[in-house]
Amino acid sequence: LPVESRPFTSYGSALHITLPQAPRAGQLLTLLVDYEAGEGPGVCWLSPEQTAGKQKPYMYTQGQAVLNRSFFPCFDTPSAKFTYSATVKVPEGFTAVMSATSWEKQKDNTFVFKMSQPIPSYLIALVVGDIVSADVGPRSRVWAEPCLIEAAKKEYDGVIEEFLVVGEKLFGPYVWGRYDILFMPPSFPFGGMENPCLTFVTPCLLAGDRSLVDVIIHEISHSWFGNLVTNATWGEFWLNEGFTMYAQRRISTEVYGLPYTCLEAATGRALLRQHMDATGEDHPLNKLRVVIEPGLWGVNPDDTYNETPYEKGYCFVSYLAHLVGNQSKFDAFLQAYVNRFKFQSITADDTLGFFLEYFPELKEKGVDSIPGFEFDRWLNTPGWPPYLPDLSPGQQLMKPADELAELWAADGLNMEAVEAVDITGWRTYQLVYFLDQVLQKSPLPEGNVKRLSKMYPKISKAQNAELRLRWCQIVLKNNLEAEYSKVKEFLHSQGKQKYTLPLYRAMWGGSEATRALAMETFSATAPQLHVNVQNYVKKILGLGGAE
Ligand code: BES
Ligand code: ZN
Repeated sequence: LPVESRPFTSYGSALHITLPQAPRAGQLLTLLVDYEAGEGPGVCWLSPEQTAGKQKPYMYTQGQAVLNRSFFPCFDTPSAKFTYSATVKVPEGFTAVMSATSWEKQKDNTFVFKMSQPIPSYLIALVVGDIVSADVGPRSRVWAEPCLIEAAKKEYDGVIEEFLVVGEKLFGPYVWGRYDILFMPPSFPFGGMENPCLTFVTPCLLAGDRSLVDVIIHEISHSWFGNLVTNATWGEFWLNEGFTMYAQRRISTEVYGLPYTCLEAATGRALLRQHMDATGEDHPLNKLRVVIEPGLWGVNPDDTYNETPYEKGYCFVSYLAHLVGNQSKFDAFLQAYVNRFKFQSITADDTLGFFLEYFPELKEKGVDSIPGFEFDRWLNTPGWPPYLPDLSPGQQLMKPADELAELWAADGLNMEAVEAVDITGWRTYQLVYFLDQVLQKSPLPEGNVKRLSKMYPKISKAQNAELRLRWCQIVLKNNLEAEYSKVKEFLHSQGKQKYTLPLYRAMWGGSEATRALAMETFSATAPQLHVNVQNYVKKILGLGGAE
């Protein structure tokens, strides 16, 4: 058949195939496309040095948002869903895994995968590497390179099933069969990616104490919000992420209680604050419905990635719950919503229409147009969320951290008061919250950060990635040159986008010394970074990257 590649966007091209005659409506058409994946950004080839074991190469794919078009020809839009199967032949000594409901190993190191539920293109994912697995629950195992498998098993042994059970109780059946977790090489650009049946996660989650398990609960929550009910366009990404943040915190509340969950939500709110401060509240990306397409086919949805769909989205869903006024009624609504739209791709109009249909008494009251809280304003006006859920149940955990941050920000350090506070028993998220407060108050009076560093090696020498990120941000904002090497080490150790970009922004916005540090670090680490992350860093450093 005549085949033609036509320009489409800067991140892909359109494949036009001319059929000998127009197909009849309802006619089944089978098209066989013989192709080879090239150098596109969706397929990542890692050298042995870029893996944990450093012995064998590794390949992985990352589809979201629009990268899978460089992996296989597809309708690369979340509005189209389909099942798939794949036959993957790999060299001896390698294993292939995919986001599929079933798999089978055949002779000649050939793996056959089948996804029996319809999914959008961005959820197809493949890894080939020297990986092994270990069971951690009745329908869950962890996958990792052999040198990490023990740590991986230890981190999540026996804890995953409870999240799934609570998720099913709240949102309805888990339709994907297995829920496995794959620990990726350190350059994986995300904390987690909700590939169905097989979540991909950063090895930074191997904190040794399960303290970063909220990422797992988040990706599990996508099993209902995102993977079952999917945003039809990337302009309404908040439908995936805002509902998932809400679901994540519902599961977390059931498992860990309200105080802890409110503390975690407060750290999320701090991220939203930082983002809006950096961009200005009325930046067009600070609305839930983002205009990506009209006349702008070149706008890459990945370039619109920020905290708004997550945390403002969470606030909007919390606002809907607040309108209902009763948690179990709202939980029942969420379950009905999933059931109504499962295996479909929808827009916010579908979501909100269903909400008003489900609660006719609210529709009657006109809750969609309460001045200041109009649904239309939530969706289409940039800015700080008009409604914030009450996080005061977390006060018992946040107050000591608030008070300690106050002490450290004071001009004349009251060391007696500081020493009276014992942080040895604090949980990771309490420390994260404390550090966010310190960061917000930075630069601190001369000398304070140096003393803080000495006083709390648990923070300044932390191995936990969330703590390391905050500590590096504090070091940079306070020009603590003696610890610049920590920034470098952290950026050499992993390549998660949400850790990497804020640190380069801080370095580039700082002194000559931090700018030099940025350049030096980037030239050493660039080849390890995901190509998208590389381009975003280039843009920050004025090296002519993305957009
Ligand atoms: N689906 C996202 C990751 C993503 C978003 C990849 C957009 C590509 C484009 C995933 O579910 C996610 O949100 N991960 C977060 C976890 C966090 C919010 C707990 C991450 O990676 O930090
Ligand atoms: Zn997510």
